[in-house]
Amino acid sequence: MPEPELPQKSKRIAVIPGDGIGVEVTREAVRILRAATSKSATQLHFTDFDWGADRYLRDGTSLPGGAVEMFRRDFDAILFGAVGDPRVPGNQHAADILLGLRSKLDLYVNLRPVELLDDALTPLRDRAAKDVRFTVVRENTEGLYVGTGGHFQRGTPHEVAIQEDVNTRRGVERIQRYAFEFARARNLRRVCMSDKSNALTFGHELWLRIFKEIRGDYPDIESRHLYVDALAMELVRDPSQFDVIVTCNLFGDILSDLGSQLAGGLGLAPSGNIHPGQVSLFEPVHGSAPNIAGKNIANPAGSVLSSALMLDHLGLHAPANLLREAVRASVKEKKTTRDIGGNLGTKEAGDWLVEYIAARA
Ligand code: NAD
Ligand code: IPM
Ligand code: MN
Repeated sequence: MPEPELPQKSKRIAVIPGDGIGVEVTREAVRILRAATSKSATQLHFTDFDWGADRYLRDGTSLPGGAVEMFRRDFDAILFGAVGDPRVPGNQHAADILLGLRSKLDLYVNLRPVELLDDALTPLRDRAAKDVRFTVVRENTEGLYVGTGGHFQRGTPHEVAIQEDVNTRRGVERIQRYAFEFARARNLRRVCMSDKSNALTFGHELWLRIFKEIRGDYPDIESRHLYVDALAMELVRDPSQFDVIVTCNLFGDILSDLGSQLAGGLGLAPSGNIHPGQVSLFEPVHGSAPNIAGKNIANPAGSVLSSALMLDHLGLHAPANLLREAVRASVKEKKTTRDIGGNLGTKEAGDWLVEYIAARA
């Protein structure tokens, strides 16, 4: 818990490193955040939470009771690593902690910017940084993620599994409007709404109907609709067509991993789980990566860029920009982990970013 005698201008950050490389990258992000704000008028105050697979396996704790009220009362933001561990069958703890916080804190926007920081990082032929710069606005509280459904005759040859896709007028309209407002606030011209309304004739018919209803409120924005299969194809063929893509929870999950690869891979991809004006959660797009955990090779940049989104959310734009500038410089100078062409370890890549920032903060 944060101490009561904090200086007035401080922001309280809850840190949940989680599992696997979540722990390794979050450690670096916190060091970098400290460096970027060391001389600023607003100080960051960090409180660690050990929620993750180890704790769950030890005493059964995933998301403790009262956690949601505590975050709303005592914290300004949450910095999250990743959750997921092969020792936990079904990853129940991950569902409780991550999907639980997204839902219970009503973090209805999952903002996932895709930005090519260096032409050399895209696998697409003849594409440059100016061609790969878009943001996926993923609905984050509904759809196929609500966890309702059930089994019938489970474990028999006749078993049935039902997973319900929940789409509400309120939920669909608020995320679509967020995408338009996001574009407008940043002078971006184009919003693409993507669904699968040709096959999902109830849930996604609602998405399309709402889109047609509200697009007229944003005459300054070019609005376009694409079915998600066509959008996946267009993103690879010519990503320069897109500024803002708004879509449902599941499609946003898939498209953000696809997008990350257009810009150098999961190691660099940031995200914010946001409810505007309320305590929000920031995390890299990647998971706990058990295949590379504990080896000091995970790229910390996704977590650092997520921290920049967190600083923006807190109104601390100068240190946020410094974090982005540092990552961009590290990519240009190849002072990175191996996944994007450098030869540094996680900690050494973190050291380089801390030094870059300390010289400029
Ligand atoms: P993953 O994102 O953990 O890894 C996918 C691939 O990308 C792996 O080859 C991994 O080594 C690589 N990779 C990921 N992050 C990297 C980084 N920072 N630097 C370098 N390489 C990186 O996805 P997965 O393997 O499908 O999932 C592993 C576990 O993580 C699962 O339990 C999954 O449910 C969980 N997961 C959690 C989150 C989250 O907490 N937000 C997100 C995705 C997956
Ligand atoms: C993500 C992850 C999660 C999701 C998993 C771990 C449930 O893939 O944050 O992208 O599907 O939302
Ligand atoms: Mn994902």
